[in-house]
Amino acid sequence: MSYIKSVDFKDDRLVIINQTKLPLAEEYIITDDYERIALSIERLEVRGAPAIGIAAAYAVALSFKHFKGNAEERFAKVFARLKTTRPTAVNLFWALGEMRSVFEKNKNSENLYHILISKAESIHKDDIEMCERIGANGLKLFDKKLRILTHCNTGALATGGIGTAFAVIYTAFQKNLVEYVYADETRPLLQGSRLTAFELEKAEIPFSIITDSAAAFLMRQGKVDLVITGADRIAVNGDAANKIGTYNLAVLCKHHDIPFYIAAPYTTIDKTCPTGSEIKIEERGKEEIISIAGRQITKESYSVYSPAFDVTPHELIEGIITETGLYKKPYNFLDV
Ligand code: MRU
Repeated sequence: MSYIKSVDFKDDRLVIINQTKLPLAEEYIITDDYERIALSIERLEVRGAPAIGIAAAYAVALSFKHFKGNAEERFAKVFARLKTTRPTAVNLFWALGEMRSVFEKNKNSENLYHILISKAESIHKDDIEMCERIGANGLKLFDKKLRILTHCNTGALATGGIGTAFAVIYTAFQKNLVEYVYADETRPLLQGSRLTAFELEKAEIPFSIITDSAAAFLMRQGKVDLVITGADRIAVNGDAANKIGTYNLAVLCKHHDIPFYIAAPYTTIDKTCPTGSEIKIEERGKEEIISIAGRQITKESYSVYSPAFDVTPHELIEGIITETGLYKKPYNFLDV
């Protein structure tokens, strides 16, 4: 499949498609400055758990492109900066940890920059392969053509490859197992109506955008056979953090007897996190709620609470698909 690349490493610079402009404009940020990549992560110009990890890995490597001073001090500064960009997606911390191991072994090498770039490229390449395997493993959910509802964006824009939940949808569609997709618009930043719709259009999968609040009504009408989303962090007991509104869908699925699945790379499982209560949930600024596309829609003086993610309790998750297989309840990821 030819898919749009969330990030691409070319001519010793990182090319990031600016996701805040999609789908109305295709603009790129081309940089070798780690601080610019950190800002891109904070601003959601690059977003989606696996894509954030990949971008951060390249940022670490690029910070050594021209650097001549104390490597340990430099690494500590860059690592600390990137760690603060977004708190919830474990993939960011996982990728930074991988870069740290390679740095520790090679910090005195003349070739440090190229060694770190090779590691970032291998994290990127592995993600592409993981996405393919998640797609293939997800076929186990289909014994007939299904109508699917999904939330946020989990496709190529969110990963290095074809996606996670989107990979399942895409792979099943190629096998004529997808009848229709409903894409939640995903307030407040509209990753569904902007990014998932864009990717569904490119893949020629028939779809409609729905408002987040329409899901219950569609389910009641019998229009949804399966809900599948991604995850930003999965606890050992199977509790899963994902874009705000995911938990609502899981509760609705329970009421309407519709299976609710998560698809994510195995590295999204945080073995240091026993339950969802330990997952740090990002809170975003009020400007994303009081304005839409730069136009203020309510009073600046109003108080806003904007958690960017929620945690779906494990008992509401029918199964979790990773590149290593399909895991069913009860979950205990310490043992697998
Ligand atoms: O805030 P975002 O856009 O980075 O949130 C992304 C999501 O919640 C995705 O569903 C999740 O990262 C899984 S992506 C494969």
